Amino acid sequence: MVAFKSLLLYLSLSLTPAYVVAGGGKPHGFSPSAPSYDDYCFLTIYNSISSYTFQLPGTVSSTTSASSSSASSGGGGSRGGSSSGHSGHKRAELQKRRKGGGSSSNACTLNLEVASIYASAKAYCNGKQFTAAIPYWQSLCTSGGYTLMDLTEIEANVTQAYINSLPVLNPDSNSTSAAIEKAVILDKAYYEVAYHTNYAHDYAFEQDALFSWGFLGFWGGIMVLGMVHKIVTVVLAFFADRRLSSRRDVEGAGTIAAPSAPSAADPLAKTWHLIRTWFIIPAGFAPFSEHHQRYIYWHTIPRRLDLFIVSAFWITAIVLSFVRYDSFSGNLSYSTVANQNWQLSADRTGILSYACLPFLWLFGGRNNIFLWATNFSFRSFNIFHRHVAWVATFEAIVHSINYTVLYTVYSSSYASSYASNYFYMGVVATITMSLMVLLSHSWLRQKFYESFLIIHIVLAIVMIYALLRHTNFENETWQGYLYPVVAIWGSDRVVRIVRVLYCNLHVKFSKGFIHNETTVRYFADADLLRIEMSPGVRAPFKPGPGQHYYLYQPMALLGWENHPFTLGAYSTKDMPAAHNGVASMTSISSAAGSYGSSLVFYVRPYDGWTQRLRKQCQKAADGIVHPKLLIEGPYGEKADLHHFDTLLLFVGGTGIASAVPYILDHIQCARNGTTRTTNIQLIWSGRQRAMFDHIANTELRDALQRNDVHGNFYITCRAPTTSTAVLGQEEEKKSSSLPQVMAMPSANSNSSDSDSASANYIQVPAYIFTLGRPDVKQLIATTVEQSKASSSKVAVLVCGPAQMADDSRAAVFSALRNGFYGIEYFEETFGW
Ligand SMILES: Cc1cc2nc3c(=O)[nH]c(=O)nc-3n(C[C@H](O)[C@H](O)[C@H](O)COP(=O)(O)OP(=O)(O)OC[C@H]3O[C@@H](n4cnc5c(N)ncnc54)[C@H](O)[C@@H]3O)c2cc1C
Ligand SMILES: NC(=O)c1ccc[n+]([C@@H]2O[C@H](COP(=O)([O-])OP(=O)(O)OC[C@H]3O[C@@H](n4cnc5c(N)ncnc54)[C@H](OP(=O)(O)O)[C@@H]3O)[C@@H](O)[C@H]2O)c1
Ligand SMILES: *[C@@H]1O[C@H](CO)[C@@H](O)[C@H](O)[C@H]1NC(C)=O
Ligand SMILES: *[C@@H]1O[C@H](CO)[C@@H](O)[C@H](O)[C@H]1NC(C)=O
Ligand SMILES: *[C@@H]1O[C@H](CO)[C@@H](O)[C@H](O)[C@H]1NC(C)=O
Ligand SMILES: *[C@@H]1O[C@H](CO)[C@@H](O)[C@H](O)[C@H]1NC(C)=O
Ligand SMILES: *[C@@H]1O[C@H](CO)[C@@H](O)[C@H](O)[C@H]1NC(C)=O
Repeated sequence: MVAFKSLLLYLSLSLTPAYVVAGGGKPHGFSPSAPSYDDYCFLTIYNSISSYTFQLPGTVSSTTSASSSSASSGGGGSRGGSSSGHSGHKRAELQKRRKGGGSSSNACTLNLEVASIYASAKAYCNGKQFTAAIPYWQSLCTSGGYTLMDLTEIEANVTQAYINSLPVLNPDSNSTSAAIEKAVILDKAYYEVAYHTNYAHDYAFEQDALFSWGFLGFWGGIMVLGMVHKIVTVVLAFFADRRLSSRRDVEGAGTIAAPSAPSAADPLAKTWHLIRTWFIIPAGFAPFSEHHQRYIYWHTIPRRLDLFIVSAFWITAIVLSFVRYDSFSGNLSYSTVANQNWQLSADRTGILSYACLPFLWLFGGRNNIFLWATNFSFRSFNIFHRHVAWVATFEAIVHSINYTVLYTVYSSSYASSYASNYFYMGVVATITMSLMVLLSHSWLRQKFYESFLIIHIVLAIVMIYALLRHTNFENETWQGYLYPVVAIWGSDRVVRIVRVLYCNLHVKFSKGFIHNETTVRYFADADLLRIEMSPGVRAPFKPGPGQHYYLYQPMALLGWENHPFTLGAYSTKDMPAAHNGVASMTSISSAAGSYGSSLVFYVRPYDGWTQRLRKQCQKAADGIVHPKLLIEGPYGEKADLHHFDTLLLFVGGTGIASAVPYILDHIQCARNGTTRTTNIQLIWSGRQRAMFDHIANTELRDALQRNDVHGNFYITCRAPTTSTAVLGQEEEKKSSSLPQVMAMPSANSNSSDSDSASANYIQVPAYIFTLGRPDVKQLIATTVEQSKASSSKVAVLVCGPAQMADDSRAAVFSALRNGFYGIEYFEETFGW
C-alpha cells in the first residue's frame, strides 16, 4: 500500500512539469498574444489597422493612436527589426507591438476605423474566428478603458460589394504618417504573413511544451513495459511456488522436485527465449565484444536491452529537438529563415533540456519506486541517469550556442544582455552541467569516489539554483520542470533518513539496546573486515538474500560517508542461529545472538572509509572494535534461485557475501521442501587461503557438509606474502589448462596472528583447493550439457571481478544461442 502510494506520488511528480505547461490546453509561460488561437485572426487585423491614424475628412487629429509608437510595424513586428533578443525579452517587446500597447480610442469608437477593422475581419476570418472576434474586440476596448461602439449599422453596411470597393491598406507600402480619411481594407497577402507570424511565434512554444511530453512518453513507456514484465515474473513465480509446495504436500517434505525445463514446442516460450537471448541477457555488442562490467576506454557498455533503450532515447531526443520548425520566408519578426531556425531550435532545446531534469533525478536516486516496481537494476538506472544527463547537457549546450549566435550575429545585444540575471544564470547553468558531466568520468569515480560525490552534489545545487533564476521571468512556467526535481531529490533524502531512523533508532529505545552492539573484526591473513551488527530486538525488516545496506559511521571524521555492502550472513530470532553458523562465531556474536537478529558484512578494505576502519581494528589489541555504525536499508531484491535445479554461484573474493545468504536460504527451504534446487556449485576464487577458512568454518560450515552443496575453491595468490603462512606448502601457481589440484585439510594451517578464534572453529572435512582461476566458461558449458541431458534448469549467479562476470554472461549467452532454454543469469555487482 505504501509502495503504491509512492508510485502515485512518483507518477504525479513526473507528470507535473508537462502538465503545468501544456495541461491547460493553452500556451502559458510566454504570455500568448491572445487567449485562444481563434483570436489570432482578429488580433492581427486589429493591430495592423490600429497602427494607423484615422480621421474624418477635414478634422485635425487629436486622438493619437496609442500604438503609434510602433511606427510602420503592423502585424507581428517589423521586418528585419531587432528580432533575436532572449525569448523573454523579445517576447515582451513583440507583445507590446502586437497588442498595440493597449487599444486606441479610434479603434473602438471612430466609425471609419471600426468599419475598416470589421470589414477586414469579415473578409479574412473564418467562421469560428469571426464568432470569436466581436467579444474579443470588446475585451480589448474594455482593457483600454473604452467601449466598443454599436456595430449594428456597420454590420448592415459591410457587404461583399462594400468590401470589394474599399481601398487596400498595406503596411508594407503605405506609411503610417499620413492620416487615413476613409474606410480601408487590410491587404490580404500582408494579413496572411502577419497572421502566420503571430501564430507561429506563439504556437512554437506550445509545440515545444508538447514535445517535452515526448520524454515522459518515452520513459513512461519503458517503465510501463518494465512493470508488466515485473508483474508477469511475480505471477509466474507465485505459481511456481504453489507447484513446489503442492508437490511437497503430496510427496512429503524434503522430496526432490521433478525437473521440468520449458520445452521448445511452446511458441510463447520460443519467442520469450529469443527475446532473452538477443535482447535481455547479452552484453551490448555481444558476440563481438563481451564487455559489460569491464570498461571500454573508461566507458561502461550497457547490456543489450539498456543499450537499445538509451539509443532510442538519443534518437527521440534528437528528433524532438530538430523537427517541425514553422519557419517561413517573409516572417515579419525575422529577417531570414535561418534566423527563425536559430531561434526555434534555441527555444526547443532549452525546453527539452529542462524536460530531461526530472528523469535525471529519478534515475539517480537510491529510493526510486520504479526500482521496486520493475526488474531494472540500480545499474541499469544508473546508465539511464548518465545518458539522460548527457542529453540534457547536449540540449543545454545547443541552446547556449544558438542564443550566442542570435545575440551576436542577428543582433549585437550580447554584451548588454549579459548584465541581466536570466542571461548569465543560463551561462552558469550550462557550464555547471558540462562540468558535472566531465567530473563524473569513471576514472574519477574509481579513484576519488567521495570527492566526486561531494562535487556532484554541490554542482547539482548550483545548477538548480541557476536554472531557477534563469527562468523566473513572466509566469515562471518553465519552473514547472524544476519543482519535480526538488521534490524527487527531497523525497529520496527523506526516505533515506526514515530508513536510517527505522533501522537504528528503533534499537535505542528498546530495552535490548547496547551501545556497542556492532563488532568489527579485522582478519589480517585474509585482509578481511567482518562487520557484525544487531539492528534491533524486533528486526524492523527481514534480512535475506540479495540485500545490501549502506553503512554510516556518523561519529567519525567524514561521518556523512556511507558505503554499500552486501549482506553476507544473517540470523533472526525465529531462525535458530546454530543452523547458519553465526552463533558459532564464538564470543563476537554472543551478544547479538541473544538480542534478536544479527547482520554480517564481509568487507575488503580499500583506500577510503574501509581503510580507516581497518586501521582502527589494527590499533585495537585484539583486532576487534565496537564503533557506532548506522545502517540504511535494505536495498536490492532476492533472485528466485529456488526455482532452478542447479545453481552455479561464481564468486570472487568478498563476492562470497552475495552467495552465502542464498545458500543459507536454500538450507532453510530444503528443510520443508520449498525449493527445487538439488545441486549448488559454489565456485569461489580468492587470493587468500585464510578467507576460505574463515567463512567455510563459520557461515558455510553446515552447508559444506551437505551433499547438495559443493564448494570449489580456487586460490590465485601470485606471490605468497610473508604475513601469510597459508600458501607455504603450495607450489607456484601454474597457468596450465589443467590446474593443479591439491587436497588440503582446512584447519591444519597455523595461521596465528589475529585469528585467535580459529581454535573455536569446528573443523570441516577436508576440502579441495585448485590453484589458478576457475575457467568460468568451461564450467558453465559443462553444466549446461548435463542439464540439457536431464532437462533441468540452471541459474548462474555471479558476484565477482568484472572479467569473471563478463565471462559468465558470455557463456550464458552462448548456451541460450545454442537453444538451451533452461538457463537464467543473475549478476550482483559491487559498483555502478
Ligand atoms: C551493491 C554493492 C554491494 C557491495 N558489497 C560489498 C561487500 O559485500 N563487500 C565489500 O567488500 N565491498 C562491497 N561493495 C563495495 C564497497 O561498497 C566499496 O568497496 C566501498 O564503498 C569502498 O569504500 P572506501 O571508501 O573504502 O573505498 P575507496 O578506496 O574510496 O573506493 C574504492 C572503490 O569503491 C567505490 N566506492 C566507494 N564508495 C562507494 C559508494 N558509496 N558506492 C559505490 N561505490 C563506492 C569507488 O568508486 C572505488 O571504485 C559493494 C558495492 C556495492 C555497490
Ligand atoms: N568497488 C570496488 O572497488 C570493490 C570493493 C570491494 C569489492 N569489489 C569487487 O568485489 C569483487 C571481489 O573483490 P575482492 O577484492 O574481494 O576480490 P579478490 O580478493 O581480488 O578476489 C577476486 C578473485 O577472482 C579471481 N578472478 C578475477 N578474474 C577472474 C576471472 N575472469 N575468472 C575467474 N576468476 C577470476 C581473482 O583472480 P586473480 O587473483 O588471478 O585476479 C581473485 O582470485 C571484485 O569484483 C571486486 O572488484 C569491488
Ligand atoms: C452606412 O452606409 C450609409 C450609406 O452608405 C452611410 O450613410 C452610413 O454612414 C454608414 N454607416 C456607418 C456606420 O458607416
Ligand atoms: C496604399 O498605397 C497604394 C500604392 O502606393 C495606394 O494605391 C493605396 O491607395 C494606398 N492606400 C491607402 C489607404 O492610402
Ligand atoms: C560492551 O561494552 C561493555 C562495557 O563497555 C562490555 O562489558 C561488553 O562486553 C561490551 N559488549 C560487547 C559485545 O563487546
Ligand atoms: C519453509 O521454510 C522457509 C524458511 O524457514 C519459510 O520461509 C517458508 O515459509 C516455509 N514454507 C512452508 C510452506 O512451510
Ligand atoms: C602448527 O603449529 C604446531 C605448533 O605451533 C606445529 O607443531 C604444527 O606442525 C603446525 N602445523 C602446521 C600444519 O603447520
